[in-house]
Amino acid sequence: PKKIGQGAADVNIALSKYWGKRQVELNLPTNSSLSISLPGLGTHTKIQADKTLQHDCVCLNGKRLKQDDPFAMRLSKFLDFFRETPNTFFDIHTENTVPTAAGLASSASGYAALVLALNDCFDWQLPKKELSLLARLGSGSASRSIYDGFVIWHKGQTENGLDSFAEPIDAPWSEFCIGLLEIDLKAKKVASTTGMQQTVNHCELYQAWPKKAEQDVQAIQQAILQQDFSELGALAENNALSMHATMIATWPPILYWQPESVEAMHMVWALRESGVEVYFTMDAGPNLKLMFLQKDAERIQQAFPALKLIRPFG
Ligand code: DP6
Repeated sequence: PKKIGQGAADVNIALSKYWGKRQVELNLPTNSSLSISLPGLGTHTKIQADKTLQHDCVCLNGKRLKQDDPFAMRLSKFLDFFRETPNTFFDIHTENTVPTAAGLASSASGYAALVLALNDCFDWQLPKKELSLLARLGSGSASRSIYDGFVIWHKGQTENGLDSFAEPIDAPWSEFCIGLLEIDLKAKKVASTTGMQQTVNHCELYQAWPKKAEQDVQAIQQAILQQDFSELGALAENNALSMHATMIATWPPILYWQPESVEAMHMVWALRESGVEVYFTMDAGPNLKLMFLQKDAERIQQAFPALKLIRPFG
């Protein structure tokens, strides 16, 4: 088709994490996960299939990437699923609306936006569940970025992965806030794809993770439905620290934290001791994402002046 397809999706933060794959090629997870999407922080993508191209052309934030760029190569591998002929290549323009300063990974919004753009380009008119399945093939967490608000990604059980997709939890919570706390953007990172493989294969403690993660997803969903913020915060913080415990206990060890990350954790705990309800979560990087209610936003911004405040239902 000559049509230019367009798609946009937001990043999401997992409150109960996806960590580990039972099948690597299809990004089939060991455990279910639950997230919140962050409106306005994400990716916008345009795509066009072009039979005259000799290879895919990827532009990221206005800059044309080399063919052997790792980002472009991962994208081309994903697009192999969708070529009408082996010689049909794509022209892709993708812009991240995540300020680089937010320290958020963009593969989740990136692959979700790409799938939405393909759906538009080929006029598939697929339901969201199918779009979520396809986004999962690009990056596991992208399955959740197809939706706004709170989202569950069901791990599924089948070998073909057709039961491993995300669905929204219809429970808007207007007071619920996320604060992005940037610690260190230069820190060298082990990509989450690599990090989780290393943990699955070389960490004895990992055995305990899938069961715990499944329980946390259920309990966090309950807390959301009951708008029980203390319960949600405690479960999410404990889930993140448990995931990090498996990373630390693998060999060679993976520690995403910087000294400033630990300092910020102590500040969160001190604030909590003083009666302010604030919790944190962390992904495969040194930055913290704080969770709190609108009524405490001012107190928390005083304690963390650099905090970027987001109201997912605002
Ligand atoms: C720590 O979705 O980036 O952010 O499926 O290999 O692309 P791939 O991994 P990815 O992993 C995200 C890991 C995490 C937790 C989460 O978002 O659930």
